[in-house]
Amino acid sequence: MHLLERETYLRVINPRMISGHLQGKLLEMLVRMLRPKRVLEIGTFTGYSALSIARGLEGDATLDTIEVDDELEYIAASFFARSQYGHRIHQHIGSALEVVPRLERCYDMVFIDGDKREYTAYYDMLMDGGYVRSGSFILADNILWYGKVAQPIAHNDKHTENIVEFNRRVVEDPRVDNVIVPIRDGINLIRVL
Ligand SMILES: C[S@@+](CC[C@H](N)C(=O)[O-])C[C@H]1O[C@@H](n2cnc3c(N)ncnc32)[C@H](O)[C@@H]1O
Repeated sequence: MHLLERETYLRVINPRMISGHLQGKLLEMLVRMLRPKRVLEIGTFTGYSALSIARGLEGDATLDTIEVDDELEYIAASFFARSQYGHRIHQHIGSALEVVPRLERCYDMVFIDGDKREYTAYYDMLMDGGYVRSGSFILADNILWYGKVAQPIAHNDKHTENIVEFNRRVVEDPRVDNVIVPIRDGINLIRVL
């Protein structure tokens, strides 16, 4: 994992998007606690969180991870290939909004870490499309957005606007229960009732 972090900082624009040890370990622990059979990740980036999730999976459980930027594919793929947990990861390239409906699977756990402007679209797709069910968990990263969600939104700041709308939609949705875990940039932990 240290090598993956190093490569990310050497080769990729915006390397700070990587999950890193604290969040990676938390994801692994949650997976070990919930023991999901099928996990979905939106936003593979260079694969750090995917490998953290895969490490916690048991038996024949699998992770579908989706990344829209095809230039990142080879970095993540090369680290998945070298990992003893790589066989649990199915890598998909394309927008999650198009790939998830094509996969036609229902997930026990979803990690949302894609484009912040699309969080509400991911949520609606998952909840209304039948890609999660009662007992599934959705984890959404960066929901504090560096504290911007608690400040007046700057003109045309679509990222903050959508995260605020996402958090509102979740808390007002009678189909789910949730808690915001203020670790790092904040994770919204959502349970489908
Ligand atoms: C914050 S990074 C993900 C970090 C990664 N989960 C990790 O922990 O290392 C967000 C990623 O989501 C990707 N992304 C943006 N929109 C997407 C979409 N519609 N579908 C899939 N991936 C998307 C971006 O290209 C970027 O690589």
